Amino acid sequence: MNEVLNTIKERRSVRVFKDEQIKDEELQEVLEAGLYAPSAINQQSWHFTVIQNGKVLENFTQTAKETFLKSGVDQLKAMANNEKYKVFYNAPTAIIISGDTKAANPEADCSAATENILLAAKALGLGTCWIGSMPYIFGNGNNEALKNELGIPEGYTPINSIAIGYAASETTKAPARKENKVNIIK
Ligand SMILES: Cc1cc2nc3c(=O)[nH]c(=O)nc-3n(C[C@H](O)[C@H](O)[C@H](O)COP(=O)(O)O)c2cc1C
Repeated sequence: MNEVLNTIKERRSVRVFKDEQIKDEELQEVLEAGLYAPSAINQQSWHFTVIQNGKVLENFTQTAKETFLKSGVDQLKAMANNEKYKVFYNAPTAIIISGDTKAANPEADCSAATENILLAAKALGLGTCWIGSMPYIFGNGNNEALKNELGIPEGYTPINSIAIGYAASETTKAPARKENKVNIIK
């Protein structure tokens, strides 16, 4: 099968990672793949923050837990009360994909970039998991101090994020796809 198609079909979410850090060249390759994503009116409205510092990752989880506890949402509160919960599992690298709130469609742009990164990582033998909790952590103007500490540019908000590292567990083949999801009109 074509290599690209194979990568798309074989990518699975990885949630258990080795401690070993990914190589700088691998990081650069996956970020470049993100930068080459399509975007509305070619605005390239994304910004990538890479965290490879254990203390910063830990602080991120603590801030997320405090926010979840105050959220009033039972599922988020349960995550905050789970001692083992880490926003990025135990991945050695996290990538936060922030979008320019004034752009035409930052959610779509950032999601195209996110998927490009997941696929590039798979092609390089890295494991990833898309982490969708950013709007819960940073929505409603929450955690501006953390945003500033992370150097997220003014006018951008975290939309998606990715845990990335070397997989410490095998992933199984993707289950069969749901039916009736396509209509072809000829
Ligand atoms: C928008 C979005 C948000 C997601 N958020 C999370 C998340 O917060 N935590 C997590 O473990 N997986 C998250 N995932 C991964 C999905 O759970 C996963 O893609 C799905 O179960 C299909 O499994 P696969 O990626 O192995 O094909 C997210 C995926 C998407 C597209």
